[in-house]
Amino acid sequence: MNELFEEEVRFNQASRPNWEEGAAHRNLITGYLIDLAESSGGRLCVLGAGNCNDLDLQKLSQVYSEIHLVDLDETALKYAVDFQAVSEDPSIHLHVLDLTGVGDRLAAFKKDRDQGEEELQQILALLSESRELDISGPFDVVCSTCILSQLILQVVHAAGESHPRFEELMVAVREQHFRTVLDLTVEGGAGLVISDFVSSESAADLKDVPDFQFTQYLSQLLSSRNFFHGVHPGLLYAQLKGKAPLAKLVEDVEMLPPWRWDLGPRQYAVAALRFRRCATG
Ligand SMILES: C[S@@+](CC[C@H](N)C(=O)[O-])C[C@H]1O[C@@H](n2cnc3c(N)ncnc32)[C@H](O)[C@@H]1O
Repeated sequence: MNELFEEEVRFNQASRPNWEEGAAHRNLITGYLIDLAESSGGRLCVLGAGNCNDLDLQKLSQVYSEIHLVDLDETALKYAVDFQAVSEDPSIHLHVLDLTGVGDRLAAFKKDRDQGEEELQQILALLSESRELDISGPFDVVCSTCILSQLILQVVHAAGESHPRFEELMVAVREQHFRTVLDLTVEGGAGLVISDFVSSESAADLKDVPDFQFTQYLSQLLSSRNFFHGVHPGLLYAQLKGKAPLAKLVEDVEMLPPWRWDLGPRQYAVAALRFRRCATG
């Protein structure tokens, strides 16, 4: 496993004991997914499922006929189904893979940034291609859960924020992720892209600010540019609206109210976009 992915595995190990703290975050996401099962039905796919501390798998398995959990970290997925006592449930499927397809190349670039233009060009070309993922898609509902900020963090670690092509790489990773979500969603199906966008590490009051001031507090953070690279909620919305290439594939795009995710020692603010993939013909 490459060193960027080893870091993901370490993060998953460290955040594993936060089931209790994460209850509100989990209940909200599980609730949104239960609602989507009613309107879209059948088969659910979750990208970045990891420890699944944000999914109540028992409740979800009552409303979905199949649940496909996707992550690069096999130990986290196995832990999740054991911990939630669903490892024998035949409707739950685990898929261990790198969703970007360029993780190893990014890790190699991190080790040797002198690899230069040609390698970057190849990474960008791979990110722009459609990826066939062997995970029995498409699905009625696809949920990306707090993986996007991690994918972008891998670019930060690989290239460094001051690299002249950092922005281009970051945009390519974000666009690829949204394309992946849509490619995996059946026509007429639904998508839910959830992303953490700032943490108490840079926003110390995140935990304590009262609910009625939360939205205003987040606006202040965003306007002072205090958010993770590439995941400003407005930018996420812009991936599916207006002249964005993917906008014509989706309808009913809505930004859900932001919420707090308590990860024990750290808190995150989280944004979510819900949409429907257009049914053609
Ligand atoms: C912040 S965690 C998500 C939290 C998780 N849903 C939970 O509540 O336990 C992000 C997840 O994305 C996974 N991940 C990061 N990069 C990935 C990639 N390139 N392909 C597949 N999974 C990836 C990590 O292993 C991690 O489990």
